[in-house]
Amino acid sequence: MKTANIKPAGDAAIAEAAKLLRAGRRVAFPTETVYGLGADATDEQAVAGIFAAKGRPQFNPLIVHVAELAAARKIADFDPLSEQLAARFWPGPLTLVLPRRADAGLSLLVSAGLDTVAVRVPAHPVARALLRKTDRPLAAPSANPSGRISPTCAAHVADGLGAQVALILDGGNCAVGLESTVVAVRGGQAFVLRPGAVTREDLAAVSGQATATGQDAPHAPQSPGQLASHYAPRLPVRLDTLIAHADEAALAFGAALPEGAAKTLNLSPAGDLTEAAANLFAMLRALDRPEYSGIAVAPISESGIGAAINDRLRRAAADRPADRPAESEAT
Ligand code: TXA
Ligand code: MG
Repeated sequence: MKTANIKPAGDAAIAEAAKLLRAGRRVAFPTETVYGLGADATDEQAVAGIFAAKGRPQFNPLIVHVAELAAARKIADFDPLSEQLAARFWPGPLTLVLPRRADAGLSLLVSAGLDTVAVRVPAHPVARALLRKTDRPLAAPSANPSGRISPTCAAHVADGLGAQVALILDGGNCAVGLESTVVAVRGGQAFVLRPGAVTREDLAAVSGQATATGQDAPHAPQSPGQLASHYAPRLPVRLDTLIAHADEAALAFGAALPEGAAKTLNLSPAGDLTEAAANLFAMLRALDRPEYSGIAVAPISESGIGAAINDRLRRAAADRPADRPAESEAT
């Protein structure tokens, strides 16, 4: 198997990555949320290559990353509330679904045929330097095979997609550890399509009204990527339990320790939800080993970023599609 090309994300490696991206190649890079599998969002072939590399269904559109708000305005139209949310949370872990501009020059595949585009300005200095140097919008889903756990360090990317990328820029561990909050504004109301580090409370503080979810209203925008089973380890996952089977691994939180497990990792011994979010994917990976029969997870508070942690855990625990059963290799 071809080995992965990982380089520390210094100036020279970022310049090399920008050159590869401008030539239509794929580069994995760190963001503050998770590592992204990047390609030039204006290049149809390069975007098609992302879907192929991940094994991602082509009806699931990608997030387009830009260096700043001015670049976002060139590809999408902003309503007043989206404008306020961008002003408050960019750069940062918020993705806005916006109407695509006709003159955006973006690949059609990047939106999977929708007339909207998901846009994000990441905060990570390496992502920002890369976007500036490349001087193109970059399509970048999480750098994992479709349906599997998102990567929060360069080694995770190498494990899942090492042979599928020209270069992996190593920027260390991701500070947030969960994918960005995806929001679509319709009729002046913010709908959360995917919970993340920008919480409902954060959004409500800007909009002055409660947020809704994609299920709340008949006219609610839908997120094609929100498959029930996602972010899945190979082992089956059991939630909200304080009793583990003897052959299970356990994921604890604070003082809540599932008892009797073969091995236990604690998301945050201090019970800090931000720390738990940052540890979630790496610990799920570490426990996802054939010597255990499953992963038992302690109860975790729904408040703040806890909603996003529980969202990912529910997807990890959901029934798998028949072609992707627990304990089988990812396709
Ligand atoms: O934190 C993140 O957002 C990471 C890093 C790399 O930036 N990226 C990421 O991308 O998670 P991805 O492609 O794995 O997730 C994109 C999500 C999917 O749930 C997709 O369905 C939704 O955003 N999405 C993208 N475009 C959309 C659109 N036009 N309308 C509704 N949902 C959209
Ligand atoms: Mg993903």
